[in-house]
Amino acid sequence: MHIQWFPGHMHKAAKQVREALPEVDILIEVLDARIPFSSQNPMIAEIIGDKPCIKLLNKSDMADPEMTAIWQEYFEKNDNVRTIATNVKGSGQLRQITDLCHRMVPNKGRAGDHRVINAMIIGIPNVGKSTLINGLAGRTIAKTGNEPAVTKQQQRIKLEHGIILIDTPGMMWPKIDHENSGYRLAATGAIKETATDNTDVAFAVAEYLLEAYPERLVDRYKLESVPESEIELLEAIGRLRGSLRSGGSILLEKVSNILISELRSGFLGPITMEDPARVEKEQTEVVIA
Ligand code: G4P
Repeated sequence: MHIQWFPGHMHKAAKQVREALPEVDILIEVLDARIPFSSQNPMIAEIIGDKPCIKLLNKSDMADPEMTAIWQEYFEKNDNVRTIATNVKGSGQLRQITDLCHRMVPNKGRAGDHRVINAMIIGIPNVGKSTLINGLAGRTIAKTGNEPAVTKQQQRIKLEHGIILIDTPGMMWPKIDHENSGYRLAATGAIKETATDNTDVAFAVAEYLLEAYPERLVDRYKLESVPESEIELLEAIGRLRGSLRSGGSILLEKVSNILISELRSGFLGPITMEDPARVEKEQTEVVIA
């Protein structure tokens, strides 16, 4: 799978974060709880050093709660990092986020203190940054530019309770150094901007679901038993959904789209596509050039 971001844009975003950093008290990094590792921007960890950081595992309503808890524990091994599983679309946990900012930056922004906590929001596109900012601000704030051609200014949004949000306009793309991360980003819809081959993505999804959530597949697609291979699963879906050619073979692209779209829409239940052990193993494997 080939996904190429523009290095120039990556560096511009990194530069913007670096420039703003001296006045930033705390980072709020928004991740997609279904892919907490692959939805990170790895440059961030290098840039922020030991600044306090809240990682929001957002869209947790679509992720497997047990896996979300495992990821939270994994991230919190770093003393500067605290996590919250959020569903900012459902406007949940907003107060928890601001309260945690105050706990992690205890000397600023308290009642009677005229200084404010500067909290910078970071995250790759589509993880829910704007939804979060709008929720925290209590109104709709114009989106900073995610599109390559759009250059907008950094935004500062004053909240109640002594917090200012800093929203960087740069594009924090994920760095995909293992093809499985690319497939997961495509499967969850995080990278719709780039053309990806849905058939490849569907095979990767099928392989993972057969291993991690076989019973969900059996339920959803009324299977008599767990298919033994990805193609067997896709064929079963094709038969069930009538996506067949006249000769009886499946319309692979159509079936691929069905599986991906049902995964994204939550019809297979809350699913997390990666766990710490899996990604750590992948990190030791071949790196995409
Ligand atoms: P961004 O600024 O990081 O690019 O993300 P944005 O807030 O635009 O959110 C991207 C999509 O994710 C939006 O859906 C948004 O509603 C959805 N979303 C954000 N947070 C959550 C969450 O916690 N749970 C769920 N299930 N979805 C979430 P969209 O389809 O692009 O827009 P819309 O139809 O909701 O308006």
